[in-house]
Amino acid sequence: MANFSSFHVLFLVFITSGLAVSATVFTLQNSCPYTVWPGTFSDSNKLEGGLELTSGASVQLTLTSPPGWTGRFWARTGCNFDSSGNGNCVTGNCGGGLKCTGTGVPPVTLAEFTIQGDGGKDFYDVSLVDGFNVKLGIKPQGGSGECKDAACVADVNAVCPDQLKVNDNGNVVACKSACVAFNTEEYCCTGAHERRGTCFPSNFSMVFKNACPNAYSYAHDDPSSTFTCTGANYLITFCP
Ligand SMILES: *[C@@H]1O[C@H](CO)[C@@H](O)[C@H](O)[C@H]1NC(C)=O
Repeated sequence: MANFSSFHVLFLVFITSGLAVSATVFTLQNSCPYTVWPGTFSDSNKLEGGLELTSGASVQLTLTSPPGWTGRFWARTGCNFDSSGNGNCVTGNCGGGLKCTGTGVPPVTLAEFTIQGDGGKDFYDVSLVDGFNVKLGIKPQGGSGECKDAACVADVNAVCPDQLKVNDNGNVVACKSACVAFNTEEYCCTGAHERRGTCFPSNFSMVFKNACPNAYSYAHDDPSSTFTCTGANYLITFCP
């Protein structure tokens, strides 16, 4: 009996450590006709930073200890960095220049992930809760489970309501969410509107939802905007 138990414990330890060491690879692909400077931010410093990705280029980032990792990716646009990496972007600034040391300043389209969360599943979504700057797609590669593509492939800047537009040199470069533009409890799902059932789509969030039905358009949007997959790597495409 004692032998059986210790075998069982060893077996569990083996399984657990097997999960802990399996890496998750994120491939960032720039299919936009212009350079983007992706930024990454996470709760645990494991994959932070920023880099330059010219049109057509891609890069792989490997998360070596994924269990419970929560993080996000977005595109910065119109950046100007000097040779030491100091500078700014028209959208998506995150401090620290090219290297990016913080979360992206809205409005930005976000690719959000929790890797090996509840039940060992990965959870991911495309979020427009903080607004939109660049079209974005998430495609799981390998993995098991539902593993559907999440994406916002419409140009929301082209349908952005006037009150939400971010202009640069006469071009609409990003579209604020109503929360970012007006900062009210009603639009941000805070205060009296914090709980599910007290926060609703607005005429503004519907513009985002109609353009990109499977992306999050406000904080308590339909949970069906969250996707799951187990054991996958992920292709994140800017302008899919
Ligand atoms: C939403 O409603 C507000 C208040 O009636 C109005 O000012 C705004 O223009 C509307 N926005 C859209 C996108 O229809």
